[in-house]
Amino acid sequence: MVSTLVEARGLVKEYGAGVRVVDDVSFTIERGETLGLVGESGSGKSTVARMLLRLVEPAAGEVMFDGRDVLGGSAGKLRAMRRRMQIVFQDPYAALNPRMRVREILAEPFAIHRERCPRERLAEMLGEVGLDASALERYPHEFSGGQRQRINIARALALRPEFVVLDEPVSALDVSVGAQVVNLLRELQRRHGLTYLFISHSMPLVRYLCDRVAVMRRGCLVELGACEDVCGSPQEAYTRELIAATPEMRIV
Ligand SMILES: Nc1ncnc2c1ncn2[C@@H]1O[C@H](COP(=O)(O)OP(=O)(O)OP(=O)(O)O)[C@@H](O)[C@H]1O
Ligand SMILES: [Mg+2]
Repeated sequence: MVSTLVEARGLVKEYGAGVRVVDDVSFTIERGETLGLVGESGSGKSTVARMLLRLVEPAAGEVMFDGRDVLGGSAGKLRAMRRRMQIVFQDPYAALNPRMRVREILAEPFAIHRERCPRERLAEMLGEVGLDASALERYPHEFSGGQRQRINIARALALRPEFVVLDEPVSALDVSVGAQVVNLLRELQRRHGLTYLFISHSMPLVRYLCDRVAVMRRGCLVELGACEDVCGSPQEAYTRELIAATPEMRIV
């Protein structure tokens, strides 16, 4: 059964003197699907994603998560919803505190939500992202970019969320390393029934990973549809430009 997990309705964000960086954006994300979000730099992708999680406060509009209002609820209700949604950022270096061991990094979400972290859970989390339990006692600088992004993914999945925003999760990685991380994300999605919002500049990657894709330009959503349709026969000239701008890519 298809059902909507996330819904954005008429989202608006302004910075400065009434400049709309997000302008009346509406879409849904169905349970278990991957929605791609593409558009040139500065088109408002990250701002939209952050509003879904209420990390950025919209000037107008609504966000529903599993039928509940994300923007209107109490702090307690927001906390309960936040547990079910997570975000993985582009830069695997900036996202990890260099002074914390991996053990502490992975345990942090449990502390934030005041939950007990079962002893075996940390090693299990690392195993899920293809890292050995010996990584627990090491520091972020001891890992490669791809390994760091795996640690970020493990951290994001710590509390077993249903919805994960992937904000250009492989853009900072070499192509082959990024492809392995993308395949890991697919595998984790399959195993846990995750719902993804996948932000990317790479149309081939979006085509590989996403069910539907939304195209943003200057704060507005200009095209939204099934990946085959949007990538195969784009309706907007802007979408055609985006496709032309990213060369074909082989996923290993
Ligand atoms: N905190 C902020 N204060 C002021 N302006 C901001 C802020 N955050 C974002 N912006 C502006 O909003 C616009 C949209 O930014 P956003 O980061 O959402 O774009 P993006 O599509 O994610 O771009 P990229 O592909 O480069 O990540 C940009 O013009 C940006 O400069
Ligand atoms: Mg961005």
